[in-house]
Amino acid sequence: MRLAFLAALVGFVCTAQFSIPIKKSGAAPKFRKSQQLKKGNQVLYDTLDEYYLATVTLGTPAQTFNVAVDTTSSNFWVLDVNCASRNCHGFVHDNTLKHTYNSSASSTFRDSKKDFEIEYHESPVSGKLGQEKLNMAGFTISNQDFGRAVNVPYVYTKQPVDGVLGLGFPAHAISGTKPVIVKLLPHLDSPVFSIWLDKHGEDYMDAGGAIVYGGVDKQKCDGEVNYASLANFTVWGYYVDGVSFGIYERVGKQQAISTTGSGWTGMPSRDFTALVNITKATYDLANEAFMVPCSNIKSYPDIILLIAGKPYTIKSENYVIDLGLHNGQCALAFYDTNDESGEMPWVIGDALIRGYCHIYDFGLARIGFAKFIRNG
Ligand SMILES: *[C@@H]1O[C@H](CO)[C@@H](O)[C@H](O)[C@H]1NC(C)=O
Ligand SMILES: *[C@@H]1O[C@H](CO)[C@@H](O)[C@H](O)[C@H]1NC(C)=O
Ligand SMILES: *[C@@H]1O[C@H](CO)[C@@H](O)[C@H](O)[C@H]1NC(C)=O
Repeated sequence: MRLAFLAALVGFVCTAQFSIPIKKSGAAPKFRKSQQLKKGNQVLYDTLDEYYLATVTLGTPAQTFNVAVDTTSSNFWVLDVNCASRNCHGFVHDNTLKHTYNSSASSTFRDSKKDFEIEYHESPVSGKLGQEKLNMAGFTISNQDFGRAVNVPYVYTKQPVDGVLGLGFPAHAISGTKPVIVKLLPHLDSPVFSIWLDKHGEDYMDAGGAIVYGGVDKQKCDGEVNYASLANFTVWGYYVDGVSFGIYERVGKQQAISTTGSGWTGMPSRDFTALVNITKATYDLANEAFMVPCSNIKSYPDIILLIAGKPYTIKSENYVIDLGLHNGQCALAFYDTNDESGEMPWVIGDALIRGYCHIYDFGLARIGFAKFIRNG
């Protein structure tokens, strides 16, 4: 379930340097303008409020894929037609099969003659590297490096995804490859991308969010933006300075990583235990989650995170999600990060993004938060 795509922050082959000419402060970087600078809008399709997938195409003629967009990793890969395991060929829902990439059916494919392996939390994804023509968000990118996965963990059978599009820093890219965002940045109005997400409940693949490359969706995001600085140019990480909900409160700086790839929020052990206690959630072994009655979806306390000097609220309706179990039980979309074991204490994604547009600023190494305007 939440096991999704969060890349382990250890175990990367961290050889690639951040090669975009971006400065930490000062004027916006000067790119060679090979084409007119612009913005691009990528619709995100919501499935069960747990997955927000972008549609991209690869090859000539175009082959279509629904990929998870993930700020914690930096590589782009899709399932390959030569993946023998059923993990690559499951049903997404109803009669829709996963999409797999067939290099023999494309005239723009280039074989990189190299293998890749990416360590995710649960197990590795591996296969072969290649280059292709990529179309997304109104942009055409030629010779885009990508992975053709032939080994994926079992968890993918249950997930409606055909691959992952990493929007993290190039520091985590496979050595010798250029991430999608590196190819895209020089063409954008400004070196940022921003995201908003809405909540649609039990629907499948319903337009319910967007990523804007090169700007911000002014209809959906308030003009007032508060920024949290990143520690460095390697992860979309910031600090949570405190947390409170109900009668529980804890003050203290803890690291957080921002993820667009997960409907689940990772929480430090102590806070998580308190939340389970306050909500009286019960553990459901089959679904590997703490459950609460769906009838209470709006009645649990607001979770308030202190970030960059301002309080940010995650409402009950944004952290209790309906997994479509039809037994009156909904999931508390949090998990314990076991931060004692050295994991990133907070892994904050969709639950917060549904309340606040996030602006990922490569130019000034910061993440901006602006109120989401639901009916904008
Ligand atoms: C891949 O595409 C080629 C060329 O169109 C086709 O002959 C082949 O059957 C396809 N492979 C699979 C496994 O579908
Ligand atoms: C960069 O910052 C993150 C926290 O956001 C930290 O976990 C990581 O170790 C830092 N990396 C380097 C190379 O300093
Ligand atoms: C659980 O909640 C009760 C109040 O509902 C509180 O008295 C108790 O201290 C809490 N226990 C823990 C471990 O947080």
